[in-house]
Amino acid sequence: MTIDVQDSYAAVSRRVLDAVSAAIAGRPTLALGLPTGRTPIGLYAGLAAAGLDWAGVRTFNLDEFEGLGPRAPGSFRAFMDAHLFRHVNLPPEAIGFLRGDCPDPVAECARYESALVAAGGLDLLILGLGGNGHIGFNEPGPSLVAATHVVTLEDATRRANANAEAFGGDWQRVPARALTMGMRQVLGARQIILLATGAAKADAVAAMAEGPLTTACPASWLQVHPDVRVVVDRAAAAGLGRR
Ligand code: GLP
Repeated sequence: MTIDVQDSYAAVSRRVLDAVSAAIAGRPTLALGLPTGRTPIGLYAGLAAAGLDWAGVRTFNLDEFEGLGPRAPGSFRAFMDAHLFRHVNLPPEAIGFLRGDCPDPVAECARYESALVAAGGLDLLILGLGGNGHIGFNEPGPSLVAATHVVTLEDATRRANANAEAFGGDWQRVPARALTMGMRQVLGARQIILLATGAAKADAVAAMAEGPLTTACPASWLQVHPDVRVVVDRAAAAGLGRR
């Protein structure tokens, strides 16, 4: 795991933008895994403006809230449409997404896992980091799950996702369950770039990079992956080197 400390949120976004741009230029059929959350908004703004050719790219988002359809406010699909998909020439059929409103979420997870396998796994996976150490919606707990699966979210995760526009800031309106890619597809990605910014991520960054491998910090498992780059600002890096 390499740690790349940048001076600002803008510099973190720029750094990852350059890496994604180079990856698409180098492999026009890139299978690209994507996160949601506040952290990648700057990256997506940069990608939307970069004029890259997405015609051959395939994307796979990490997760989706259970019960929310693609156009529902608060769905990750609506977020991605607004911040990236509608701004680039990515063919609609090349967008891989979990359907949160599928009547059978377990079957939907199996379909998504098969689609990822059929794509040959991810060439590049961009990750955010939960303040509790989650990646995608692989939450801390006594165990982790390899396959794409349905997960019950921690209250802290629902609070962190209770944005004003979609949920009126009320965390109890945030769905209690979600569908997420599991650890197999995450760790099976050929290259991983994780972004984290702000002081609220400092403890999770330190646990991820310097703590023991533990299901209490799902991101700590990234230590076993041969090609992970962590791009952070100074605030998110503040806990490093203290253990
Ligand atoms: C959600 C997503 C994660 C994301 C995390 C961090 O829980 N499921 O994939 O990394 O939020 O969000 P933020 O970037 O807003 O801190």
